[in-house]
Amino acid sequence: MSGIVIHVRQGFEDDAAKELSHHLTLCGVTSRTMQAIADSAIVVVTLSIEDMKLARSQLKLADLIFSRQLLWLASFVHLPAEGDRVTALIDVIKGPLLEMAGANAFSGFFFETPDTDSSKELTGFCKSLTRHVENALNKLKLTPKGKGAAHLPRVHLVMTSNQQVLVTLADVDNSSPWTMGIPRLRFPPSAPSRSTLKLEEAFHVFLGPEQMADRLVAGMTAVDLGACPGGWTFQLVKHRMQVTAIDNGALDEKIMATGLVTHLREDAFTYRPYDTVDWMVCDVVEQPAKITSLMVDWIVRGHCRNTIFNLKLPMKKRYEETASCLNHLKERCRESGKIVEIRAKQLYHDRKEVTVYVTVAPLPKTGQSK
Ligand SMILES: C[S@@+](CC[C@H](N)C(=O)[O-])C[C@H]1O[C@@H](n2cnc3c(N)ncnc32)[C@H](O)[C@@H]1O
Repeated sequence: MSGIVIHVRQGFEDDAAKELSHHLTLCGVTSRTMQAIADSAIVVVTLSIEDMKLARSQLKLADLIFSRQLLWLASFVHLPAEGDRVTALIDVIKGPLLEMAGANAFSGFFFETPDTDSSKELTGFCKSLTRHVENALNKLKLTPKGKGAAHLPRVHLVMTSNQQVLVTLADVDNSSPWTMGIPRLRFPPSAPSRSTLKLEEAFHVFLGPEQMADRLVAGMTAVDLGACPGGWTFQLVKHRMQVTAIDNGALDEKIMATGLVTHLREDAFTYRPYDTVDWMVCDVVEQPAKITSLMVDWIVRGHCRNTIFNLKLPMKKRYEETASCLNHLKERCRESGKIVEIRAKQLYHDRKEVTVYVTVAPLPKTGQSK
């Protein structure tokens, strides 16, 4: 048994499977069996060992929009209804999974479930098994502590029912560091909307800790299109940026009181800044193609150095619509001679939408550091 398991947002299994299938074809994988059960929040692909090796050497989580986590499958383990449930798991971990890892140990281990409401019932069961599996792995010295082990693949046990566990592996440099691919972000009590977590997650996913320190710098300039009530502006202000917030609505008073925000009641589709800004973010609810055209205009005309924007997806053909918008964006940037990095992800805090990040060039270090 070998293959791939991805964690996805519940209801997006079909979109994620189409996207993964497209990328597997690009990797040269010709034969696979896909299981994308509606509302299961995972997609399981079975592949020959050769095809899995091919995919593992080329497929990148960062290129997959609808996948939160990328795991390499070694086996389905059926748990007995009673008695010892640990031995069967350990046998696969120290056998086929270790061989797949190409190492003599792992950097760690997660016991997780798909992100569905019904899976929440399994959480207690997972927790009780975690301690036993952890102890067994420690006894076998399969999860050594220390920096030397940090680069080793990680064990992920994905419990899909109280009788079935998918035994999988994550490559640390090609996976999300969070269990189920979900960052645990705390809602800041003074933020004016829950949307604030979308932009915060986008910074973590697209920039990571090092680039966040370099690219979210006090004194930078930013524009927030469709800013009200101010959840995204809140994040920019948190990094002490000078923000121009564009929206006809009312902006949170506490944010205005920071003195870092200028609120303009203008149309997001016609407003343009006098000077290039470090960041433009956009959370306007509109057709994805219309938002994409607006973003292209900002990037190609050099109005911003970085952007993070949201594409609200239609009910049907969500993968196709996203791919079409991103292809248009890439094409227009290429024609204009702009060197850009474009990444897109359906974040945990995104619902029927995806978030896109574009950076035009490495940022000069402006402003004072925090
Ligand atoms: C999803 S909300 C933004 C939420 C915001 N990001 C936050 O975190 O609080 C979308 C906003 O876009 C604004 N909007 C929609 N069309 C607009 C337009 N053409 N120009 C400016 N704002 C617009 C709406 O007034 C609304 O406040």
